[in-house]
Amino acid sequence: KRLVVLVSGSGTNLQALLDEIARTGAEQYGAAVVAVGADRDGIEGLARAERAGLPTFVCKVKDFGGREEWDAALTEAVAAYEPDLVVSAGFMKILGKEFLARFGGRIVNTHPALLPSFPGAHGVRDALAYGVRVTGCTVHFVDDGVDTGPIIAQGVVEIRDEDDESALHERIKEVERRLLVEVVGRLARNGYRIEGRKVVIQ
Ligand code: GRF
Repeated sequence: KRLVVLVSGSGTNLQALLDEIARTGAEQYGAAVVAVGADRDGIEGLARAERAGLPTFVCKVKDFGGREEWDAALTEAVAAYEPDLVVSAGFMKILGKEFLARFGGRIVNTHPALLPSFPGAHGVRDALAYGVRVTGCTVHFVDDGVDTGPIIAQGVVEIRDEDDESALHERIKEVERRLLVEVVGRLARNGYRIEGRKVVIQ
């Protein structure tokens, strides 16, 4: 299976996928990353892709007349690589109607909180501020909402009294990377069905 990964930052989730595929081999894992896209330049996620010898592309909103044009451009850029699955790993833009029409049901996102709690761009900070004692991460299919799609898997992370946002986020990312690698491999190898809010992996 062909994966296109979308990043906006450090790309450690991307790196976890690349490392696992290198370790087990694409055949065994069931998928290979064929391209990496971003919404901005100069991020470590793109450098990781380049170090792995992968094609990359950048679609910046400000380079287009508006969100619709950006969404159309991103859709075409991703479609050029004919992905079976699109993995949004720390991609910090909301995917638009055209993208969802083209790839809906095949877009996996990872979020650093236990959805439906704490959706949006500050899930780690919001969980900490709320005072929950456990938080975690969620791997889910993307639908037309923000972090509202059918949930595939979740991992729990205890919050410690001494935690600040970055310490907690780092601990969440350790769980998140393992969860994403495991889920993407299973989806690619076994195939899956989405039945309403349930995901059935064969
Ligand atoms: C991940 O925790 C992701 O869930 C969140 O941003 C982080 C991205 O980390 N949206 P990285 O770029 O994969 O290191």
